[in-house]
Amino acid sequence: MDFKIAIIPGDGIGVDVVQEGVKVLNRIGEVYGHTFKYEHILAGGSCIDAHGTPLLDESIEICKSCNAILFGAVGGPKWDALPREQRPERGLARLRREFGLFANLRPAKIYEDLKENSPLKNRVIEKGLDLMLIRDLTGGIYFNEKGRREGKYGLEAYDMECYSVMEITRVAKKAFEIAMQRKKRVISVDKANALETSKLWRDTVIEVAKEYPEVELKHMLVDKAAMELACNPSVFDVILTTSIFGDILSDEAGVATGSVGMLASASLNESGFGLYEPIHGTAPDIAGKGIANPLATIASVAMMLEIALGLPQEAAAIDRAINQVLRDGYRTPDIYTDGTTKVTTVEMGTLTAERIA
Ligand code: NAD
Ligand code: IPM
Ligand code: MN
Repeated sequence: MDFKIAIIPGDGIGVDVVQEGVKVLNRIGEVYGHTFKYEHILAGGSCIDAHGTPLLDESIEICKSCNAILFGAVGGPKWDALPREQRPERGLARLRREFGLFANLRPAKIYEDLKENSPLKNRVIEKGLDLMLIRDLTGGIYFNEKGRREGKYGLEAYDMECYSVMEITRVAKKAFEIAMQRKKRVISVDKANALETSKLWRDTVIEVAKEYPEVELKHMLVDKAAMELACNPSVFDVILTTSIFGDILSDEAGVATGSVGMLASASLNESGFGLYEPIHGTAPDIAGKGIANPLATIASVAMMLEIALGLPQEAAAIDRAINQVLRDGYRTPDIYTDGTTKVTTVEMGTLTAERIA
């Protein structure tokens, strides 16, 4: 089949890891007889440098003509002094907002061969870590009223946390639908002991749950959830949570699996159109060194094949290739341990692509 994919590498290591994602996609094309055409799009700091804005209007139109978006990461110290509205991250926020990508799926699981990389104790890891965090991506504190004003003590800034029943309902439904395909367990994470938005969140999730009587619903306060992720992650199967809590908890889940460089994501709208990206950022501390782990992006390509392109076999082939490359002992520095073979970003991409047969 023929597909058109928008390729948005962004900044820093985003550029390196997306290149490897495309390499793997091309390999899938060769092996399974698909044609992938690419639209290369600038976003973030690189787009600011070229055009003075983190995303061009025409790029949105180009994305609309594609089957999916493959995204790297945006941002970096070079653009940190810019006002919020002009920052690289606004380019990504705009894509999320314009396409209504409210459902952010962030699976986290421990690969068998990376168990010793986890900072968690063996007895914790033995019980497993295989969860799906579902994060609202277009509401909450990120996208509501914000600003600066003169307050009681002089200058102050505010970001309003706000959720509508509609926004909570649609992301909750997504979580319950996914739970039906998994272990039929949802833990909704909130801060209902302190926040009004969380109270409405909890009440609404309880309502939605009535439509899914087979799914067991539990609620957990976010501070406890952070603790449980570190010492008892097997209690989670599907986590449903807000934008800000989900952002923080997904990095925590990432590091528990060995490296934040291993975690993929999909951001979907109501009609199933999506943006696929690793959960990590541009990693300024290692950018330009050619050592970033591309596996999170490669795993995001697998999610794209399954969800956006309806190619589950091809997605499974990528998953097997990732497992195999790890089994064969290849590691980028973030997941390196004694006795394994240290490789670069490009080598990891090539070795993974070669394992797709
Ligand atoms: P980060 O995720 O970029 O890096 C955190 C740590 O993880 C660093 O030590 C980094 O070296 C390491 N790391 C991340 N990805 C890795 C990979 N693939 N392989 C090996 N190591 C990896 O988070 P940060 O440092 O807080 O943010 C840097 C910049 O990225 C900021 O400008 C931030 O706004 C941006 N950011 C963008 C996105 C996105 O575009 N989706 C996501 C997160 C952060
Ligand atoms: C992520 C990132 C973004 C977020 C930043 C870049 C705004 O951290 O995708 O996890 O917080 O959503
Ligand atoms: Mn994040």
